[in-house]
Order: sequence, then structure tokens, then C-alpha cells
Amino acid sequence: VKNTVFSQNVDAEIGTAIEALDTPALIVDLALVEANIQAMMQRIKKFPGVSVRPHLKTGKCPEIARLMLDAGAAGICVAKISEAEVFTDAGIRDILITSEFAGMPKLDRFFRLYQRNSDLKIVLDNADLARQLNSLATNKSVSQPIKVLIDLNVGQNRTGVNTASEALDLARVIAALPHLQLIGIQGYEGHLQHLPDSDREQQCRQAMSKLNEAVQHLRKNEFGVPVVTTGGTGTAEVCAGCESVTELQPGSFVFMDVAYRDATGGKFANALSVLSTVTSSSCPERAVIDAGMKSLSIDMGNAEPKNLAGLTYRPAGDEYGIVESKSGPVPLSVGDKLELIPGHIDTTVALFDEYMVVQDGKLAAIWRISARGKVQ
Ligand SMILES: Cc1ncc(COP(=O)(O)O)c(C=O)c1O
Repeated sequence: VKNTVFSQNVDAEIGTAIEALDTPALIVDLALVEANIQAMMQRIKKFPGVSVRPHLKTGKCPEIARLMLDAGAAGICVAKISEAEVFTDAGIRDILITSEFAGMPKLDRFFRLYQRNSDLKIVLDNADLARQLNSLATNKSVSQPIKVLIDLNVGQNRTGVNTASEALDLARVIAALPHLQLIGIQGYEGHLQHLPDSDREQQCRQAMSKLNEAVQHLRKNEFGVPVVTTGGTGTAEVCAGCESVTELQPGSFVFMDVAYRDATGGKFANALSVLSTVTSSSCPERAVIDAGMKSLSIDMGNAEPKNLAGLTYRPAGDEYGIVESKSGPVPLSVGDKLELIPGHIDTTVALFDEYMVVQDGKLAAIWRISARGKVQ
């Protein structure tokens, strides 16, 4: 395990058995993480000309980015400039920021980062912002043109220009701005990721056909569009087989969670859990654990006890959780440890400062979640 960071907060020695760790703790099963990364890479290898640029909004940790890059990732995606700062500091240069940003504090911050990492790539869906970036780049004497992708709304109805013709209008604006260089298009179908298999594939093909239509329209009008980036964990393989797609941005596959496992079943393993301790069991119908809403997010449903069939978990406040049984008394006593698979990993990871990285049931490393709290 490379790049081990020892935490100031955690009093645990490398080699400690998982059951002996203090709780709540965010546990990463290293073998499963590596298997998930290999599984994604192998699945996409079948599609010539398509690369994987994993989204690090999930893992928020340079060590995880390194594992992905070592396995052949083409670069990384992040959602925020503050995340891009963390990964730049860790020596990773090829970073696509997949969310739009605006406002002077943020634009100034972008240029400060751009001065030390001109491999950053950004997305745009607004001509005024394109012009503002260009004039700021002029004032700041930026020497390398900023690589931009047009963001296209392929059905999520969140960001992005809405039609091929709007994409062309924006491409023309960008082409006229000397400090911007159009390198491609992004169309992310986030609304489809958790649909059941058949609906997901069919609706993803529709979304990709909208993306392809915009690409063809730009190409007909003399824009090269070398990068066409899209896809999440639930859609990556479908996107990879669609015309003109060159790059995929899956993130959740690295850890998985209850919501994704239920939707995509079996392709990737649950590699992240929250270890907790039973702190009270004053009646047989329930055990109370030390992991509540400050340790397990609830935005996409409750966590599940791992390898404890028949038991369910529900939060019982910020610091408490209740484990119940569907049949009879709960077979847990005060001091027992149990692992829970988060309902949603991204928002659970954002609650912790470090990963306890486990190999063969023992602590192998502590990795700081350095982009934790980086929401700007
Ligand atoms: C723009 C973008 N691309 C890719 C992803 C990664 O998707 P997933 O976590 O479903 O793999 C996300 C996740 O929210 C995203 O917002």
C-alpha cells in the first residue's frame, strides 16, 4: 500500500484486527476496491477508443485516485475546484471539473489553481461566462488556452445547453475567444443511474443519441470534438458502446452502496462499510449502535448490516442507530462490533476524515479523505 498517511485522530496501529478498531470507523476493503477498479477497466477495455476517467467526488482521496491511474485511468474527474486543488497538490494534473462554477471568488480561485495546473479541463453551458473567463484570462496574462467542454443536457435537466443548435452557438462563441480552447462535449445522464436494467439501457441509448446528434452537428460545422465524455457506474458500459463516446466518468463503482447494489446487482462489490459498536441493548427487540446520521447518510435510504441476514438498521438520532430483527430477539450484546453498508457512499464518505484501509481483516493503512469538506 503506497502513500500511507497516518492520522492524528486515530489511535490504531497497522496490523490491528478490524474488530479492535475504535468506532464509528469508515472501513475500506482494499482487495475489493482493487477488484472493482479492475472490473471496470476490463469491462471498458472491450470498447476500442473509449477510456475511463473516474469521478473522485466519491472517493475524495488521492490514494484512491492513484490506484485508478495505475490501473489505466486516463485522468480523473472532480465536481469542485476545491477538490481539484487537493488532487493537484497530490501531483495529479489531468483533472476535469464536471460542474459549472461562477462568481468572482470562484473565478479568481480557478485562475489561482490554473496558474499551477494548466492541464485542468472545465465545462461550460453559458456564453457570458465563457466571455468573462476569457477577459479574466487576458487580464491575468494566462499563457495557455483553457481547455473547455460544452455541457449538454441529455435528459437530467440539471445543467447543460439543451439542443445541438445551442451547443453550436456556444461552440462559435468559444471559438472566437483566444483564451479558451474547445476540446469536447460532456453529457451526463445522472437521472438514469439507478433505474432497473432494461429501462436504464433503453433510456441511456436515447440520451446517448442526443449526445451523438450534438457531436455530429458540431462536426458538420467544422468543430473537431475530440472528447465526448459521459457515463456513470450504472450506464458506463452502455455509453461505451454508443457512437462517438470517447470517455466515461463512473465514480460509485469503486465502493458501491445499497442503492447502487440494488440497481446494478453483482458487477461490483460493496467495498466500503461503517464499523460500529453496540452501546446499549436494554431490551431484546433492539440493539443500539454508535452510528447515527452523523456516520451514515440517509438521503438514499438506510444502511444495511453487513453479513447479518435478517437484521435491519435505522438511524435513531445524530449519534445513535437501532438494529432490529425481522424474527425474534436481536443476537447482539453491548460491545459487539458490526459493519454497515451505507445507503449512499458519496454522502457517507463526506462525514469522515479518514479511511481505515483493511487487508485480510487487519488495518493496512490509514488514508486521509483529503477532499472531505471540499465543497467550494
Ligand atoms: C457529472 C458526473 N459524472 C459522473 C458521475 C459519477 O457517477 P456514479 O457515481 O453514478 O458512478 C457523477 C456523479 O454524481 C456526476 O455528477
